[in-house]
Order: sequence, then C-alpha cells, then structure tokens
Amino acid sequence: MRTQVAIIGAGPSGLLLGQLLHNQGIANVILEQRSGEYVLSRIRAGLIEAGTADLLDRAGVGARLRREGLRHEGIEINFDGKRQRIDLQKLTGKIITVYGQTEITHDLMEARSTAGVPTIYEAAGASLHDIATDQPRVRYHKDGVEGEIVCDFIAGCDGFHGVSRQTIPEAALRHYERVYPFGWLGVLSETPPISPELIYVSHQRGFALCSMRSFTRSRVYIQCRLDDHVEDWPDERFWGELKLRLDPQSASAIVTGSSIEKSIAPLRSFVAEPMRFGRLFLAGDAAHIVPPTGAKGLNLAASDVYYLSQAFAEFYDTGSSAGLDGYSDRALARVWQAERFSWWMTRLLHRFPEDSGFDRRIQRAELEFLASSQSAQAALAENYVGLPY
Ligand code: FAD
Ligand code: PHB
Repeated sequence: MRTQVAIIGAGPSGLLLGQLLHNQGIANVILEQRSGEYVLSRIRAGLIEAGTADLLDRAGVGARLRREGLRHEGIEINFDGKRQRIDLQKLTGKIITVYGQTEITHDLMEARSTAGVPTIYEAAGASLHDIATDQPRVRYHKDGVEGEIVCDFIAGCDGFHGVSRQTIPEAALRHYERVYPFGWLGVLSETPPISPELIYVSHQRGFALCSMRSFTRSRVYIQCRLDDHVEDWPDERFWGELKLRLDPQSASAIVTGSSIEKSIAPLRSFVAEPMRFGRLFLAGDAAHIVPPTGAKGLNLAASDVYYLSQAFAEFYDTGSSAGLDGYSDRALARVWQAERFSWWMTRLLHRFPEDSGFDRRIQRAELEFLASSQSAQAALAENYVGLPY
C-alpha cells in the first residue's frame, strides 16, 4: 500500500491528524493495534479547552460537542473545608467545555468512515523502517497476513507505550521525566454531578476531583496509593473516602451509585525531545505526558497535530520543509508551558508522602495566597483555559 502520511495510532491525536490531512487533500492511512470498540471503551479526558473546541469545528467534527458539551465558566478549588471559585469567564473571557474523550473519538471515527479514509484496526506488531530516508515504511500483521505501507512521512500518534518513539535511536532523543508517588483512582457512575462546576480538592487524606460527563453522569477521581488495586476499592469505600475529603456542603450533595467504570492511573510528567527524527514526527502522548491535574493531555495532543497538519500542508502545497523543520520547537514551546502548569497544579493539590511539616505549611500558604489574590487566580485561570490553537 502507498500513501502520503502513515499514522500510527487511532487515539485522538491520530484520528484528528487524519481528519485535518484529509480535509487538505493529503492521503493518509491509520494503523491501530486495538479494535475500534476497545479504543472507544477507554474513559479518559473530559475537559476541552476553547481552542481545542475551535479546532474541532475547523476540522468539521465540532457540531455534537457544541450541542451536547457542557459549557463551564468556572471551577472550584476546595481546601481546609473552604470553597474558592475561580471565575474563568471573568478572568480570561474564555470558557471550557466538558465533553468526553470517547465522544470526540466517536465523532472523529464517524467522520473518517463517512469520508471513506482507511483505518486498519487490530494491526499487530507494527514496525517502522527507513525513517531517516525519504521513503519510510511501516510493516504490520493483520489476521496473520503481513502488510506494508510505503509513505512520505510517518506520524507517531501511538501514545506513551507506542512503538514510534522507541524506534528513534536512543542517542537522538533526550528524555525528561518525573514519576509521582501516587495515582488517581477514577470512577464513572450513573449519578448526577456533585456540583454544577468541577471541584478540585486538596485534603490531608489526599486529592479529589469531582467532574462529570453529563447532567446524569459523574466522573470522580481520588488520589490513591501506587500499590492500590481497583479490587481494594469497592464502591462503598470509594464514596466513603470521597465524602471524607469534601467540605460538608459538597459531601451532602453526593449521590452514590454503582460504578460503570473504575480504573487507576499513575501520574507522570514526561517529555521526549526533539519530536522528530528524519521522516518520523511524534505527536500527543507519544512525545509527552502530563499529570491529569491540569487537564492538558488531550488539548496538547490537539495542538501538536494542528501544527503538524499545517506543516504537511505547506510541504505538499509549496515543497517547503520549513514548517516540518520548525514543528518540534513550535510544539515543545507549548508543551513545556503545559508541563509547568500541570506539575504546579499537581504539587499544589496532592498529598506527597515524603513531604515534611514545612512542605505542608508552604502548600497551605500557597492555597491561601491563591484564595486571597486576584492575580494568582488570574494566572491559574489563564493557564487552565489554555491558548488559542
Ligand atoms: P492515546 O489516547 O494513548 O492513543 C494512542 C493510540 O495508539 C491508542 O489507541 C493505542 O492503542 C495505539 N497504539 C499504541 N501502540 C500502537 C502500535 N504499536 N501500533 C498501533 N497502534 C498503537 N487530557 C485532557 O486534555 N483533559 C483531561 O481532562 C484529561 N483527563 C485525563 C484523565 C485520565 C485519568 C487520564 C489517564 C488521562 C487524561 N488526559 C486528559 C490525557 C489524555 O487522555 C491523553 O493525553 C490523550 O489520550 C492522548 O491522546 P493520544 O492520541 O496522543 O494517545
Ligand atoms: C475529567 O473529567 O475526566 C477530568 C477533568 C479535569 C481534569 C482531569 C480529568 O483535570
């Protein structure tokens, strides 16, 4: 098979890149190791920045998000039993939208199949070859038969554990990493949201986050130990622990119900530089990870693929490689801003087991400063709502 851009991974990065390229008349094939149903069953991000929503509109897949997404003008930071609202709309003029990653993935998959652009699901053992030449290739197995895609470029959109980044010679990449000493236990349940706006909680028992997917569906996270297992957390224990971490008013609003999904995610900050080797370009979680506290992962993935699609369009329209050559620096400038903010939010709101009494008092002083300072709230809000794409 021959195409212009071979895309590895049908998560949000790969699907959105495919859609943007298709709209610009650039042929592409997506190779995904899992089935479409499996990809849709992964419950992950929920918070969409205004810039990402605009980009989805521009890609022609934003209609359902605009119809069904929940528009939020503020969030709450809750500590020492106090509730501090951050008025995003007033402080930045922007809002955020709650709309599940699975819904975005669904909208992109539908647009792709309507347009008849090929995606090869359940493609096993993908391997990348000749990535430093102008005719790279991807080999894979499907139903026991070997396939090969010959292309001009490869886009590595295959997430943190994917094969693309691992194909780049070690000496050509620099890695920056911080692994946090706790995880997030996430529960999705068919119960109304605890509050109309998201609540981020800093508590001595650990962080908690009350989010949602709709007026009838809650998405809640609590900080847990790295060695915890989902089986250690039956629903009653989960709701009981959440109640202990919330202020009395929010705690009384909890409607408990059985979980539809429950999973534990470790927290990590990670960047691989540069995001390119030869004709292979990395985008999204394949190149960088942020802890979810800042809600940046999916939004960063969207901005990467926007820059990359622009660079490919420039190359095919004018023959210029300037955009491709500048892609990594352009993307990384934004990535590091999101890394800083996500690290800062994580540091501010979690209980770090190794913290001394001094560290804890500094953390509380920082929360009190945030509660008392308009400019501190404005800085948080500016980072949280994100940049235009
Ligand atoms: P992925 O979603 O990981 O997709 C990669 C795809 O590549 C997968 O489908 C995988 O199966 C496929 N693949 C992997 N290896 C291969 C291979 N060898 N061959 C073929 N295919 C392969 N972000 C936000 O912006 N806002 C939030 O509110 C938010 N909340 C989050 C909450 C949690 C609990 C978690 C875990 C993450 C959250 N994120 C959030 C982050 C967000 O989910 C990710 O940043 C996003 O999924 C990245 O998309 P991606 O397409 O780059 O990677
Ligand atoms: C979510 O709704 O899943 C969500 C919201 C905000 C975050 C992380 C996750 O910071």
